[in-house]
Amino acid sequence: MIIRSLSADDPIPMNLLLDADPSVEMVEEYLANGVTVVGEHDGNLIGVYVLLEINPETIEIMNIAVAEEWQGQGIGRQLIEHAIRFAKEKGYHVIRIGTGNSSVGQLALYQKCGFRLVGIETDFFVIHYPEPIFENGIQCRDKIRLEIQLREEGK
Ligand code: ACO
Repeated sequence: MIIRSLSADDPIPMNLLLDADPSVEMVEEYLANGVTVVGEHDGNLIGVYVLLEINPETIEIMNIAVAEEWQGQGIGRQLIEHAIRFAKEKGYHVIRIGTGNSSVGQLALYQKCGFRLVGIETDFFVIHYPEPIFENGIQCRDKIRLEIQLREEGK
């Protein structure tokens, strides 16, 4: 797999993006303002992530997705590690990511990649999404925020 920026010639991998975030409006908004990176294999886009600057010190992975048939093979981890390197190289102090309380596998993956839990936005998914979301038999209500500090304190 090659990991590279989405180019003007590429189709926007909307199906992948909507797997990670069911809101077309939210996806379109961060696509317009963020950096989109794709994983390509044999000419097909099999993974994607979108980074959005939150402030000059902080960047957020707004969306990460791997095509279903490619999941569970380490591609998500490679994409997240790529995003962390990108954020470090660009000089950000913090990289953050958010996910639902019901996204058990994603919470495992992000912590394996070094993210720490830093906060909860209670009822985020109830307020911002029109339909109730269920995963793993759990209602997705709260947004869990995770971060990695990319610089040592005081540097
Ligand atoms: N329990 C424990 N560990 C898990 C679980 C689980 N349920 N699920 C995954 N993991 C671990 C794997 O074991 C693996 O660990 P290892 O490297 O130590 O073996 C690690 O997570 C990485 O797994 P990958 O194979 O790299 O992950 P994958 O390529 O399947 O991509 C992703 C993960 C992106 C979440 C993919 O499953 C996906 O596209 N899901 C649908 C979209 C989605 O939910 N995106 C995230 C929404 S939140 C957001 O976008 C900010």
